[in-house]
Amino acid sequence: MEMKKILITGGAGYIGSHTAVELWNAGLEPIILDDFSNSQEEVLDRLEEITGKRFACYRGDCNQRAVLDQIAKDHQLEGVIHFAAFKAVGESTQQPLAYYKNNLGSLLVLLEFMREKGIFNLVFSSSCTVYGQPDVLPVTEATPRKDAESPYGNTKKIGEDILLDYVKSKPGIRVVALRYFNPVGAHPSAKIGELPMGTPQNLVPFITQTAAGIRQKLTLFGNDYDTPDGSCVRDYIHVVDLADAHVKALSFLFEKPLDFYDVFNVGTGRGNTVLEVIHAFEQVNGLKLAYEIGPRRAGDVVKTWADTQKINAVLGWYPKYSLEDCMRDSWRWQQTLAN
Ligand code: WQD
Repeated sequence: MEMKKILITGGAGYIGSHTAVELWNAGLEPIILDDFSNSQEEVLDRLEEITGKRFACYRGDCNQRAVLDQIAKDHQLEGVIHFAAFKAVGESTQQPLAYYKNNLGSLLVLLEFMREKGIFNLVFSSSCTVYGQPDVLPVTEATPRKDAESPYGNTKKIGEDILLDYVKSKPGIRVVALRYFNPVGAHPSAKIGELPMGTPQNLVPFITQTAAGIRQKLTLFGNDYDTPDGSCVRDYIHVVDLADAHVKALSFLFEKPLDFYDVFNVGTGRGNTVLEVIHAFEQVNGLKLAYEIGPRRAGDVVKTWADTQKINAVLGWYPKYSLEDCMRDSWRWQQTLAN
């Protein structure tokens, strides 16, 4: 029997590529669409090394209806996982129109495409950023969303609103939005991982590039917050655990009625401070990291971590990797990259 084919937009990216592996492991065939604006084609070779399968890949973006139509002509698609989006918080404040056009425009084109081609299942990549600084912790799916701190965060919030309004109009689609906390780590094979373009904005790639000597030192953005050691708290989730959540979300959707919409937090349920991340990295890799305490970063949430009871109970999903696993895998991946 032919495998169910799933379109992964942004499938050559960090989370997309790891999800392609987990889909394959679950007996589903990924079909990749990527414009390679924030990913590299050699990821396809690495994916073939890991899975033994050369996944079909189309270069383009979801704003290009023609490329979507070509994919639907070549493949009978059973669902879509929509990762493709610009995701740099700082950049989004400089280029808001580009973010709204790309992130929301592509979602609208994709939804029309799905309806016309009779594709009923969509997993949408959302973010804990929609919660801003929660008033109560841990964060549940009922925690009120707050005004976004950035155009990037707003595209996730508006994206969710578009999907909910659309489902209410009964177009015949099933949707799950996954609110990621902080994705980190890399595939244990060290063949795929995070490939930040330019200077990393996120903590863990900056740590690994500092350890690799690419960056002179890490600046810890503030240690005077109301937290156990003064540095900010986040819920760091291994990218393979996050990828697995997408597979479980799809399987869940296949069983649901049409015109269904639901949201799940995807985190570990554990909060760790920046200093705890640094110390875990040092300890598990036997390294001393060069870092200094610097000023707070504007817009930073002080502390947030997920309540995972819903995704545990409804999707039967649980994280398998620890913070130490994340730090070990991030470093192993960094060491495969040219300095
Ligand atoms: C984590 C902590 C920083 C860099 C962002 C997006 C979010 C999601 C994940 C896409 C903070 C501190 C960081 C550094 C530091 N992206 N830090 N020195 O800001 O929680 O979330 O990425 O979905 O939407 O907002 O992640 O890794 O940037 O920061 O001290 O050089 O590390 O202050 O406390 P963040 P981050």
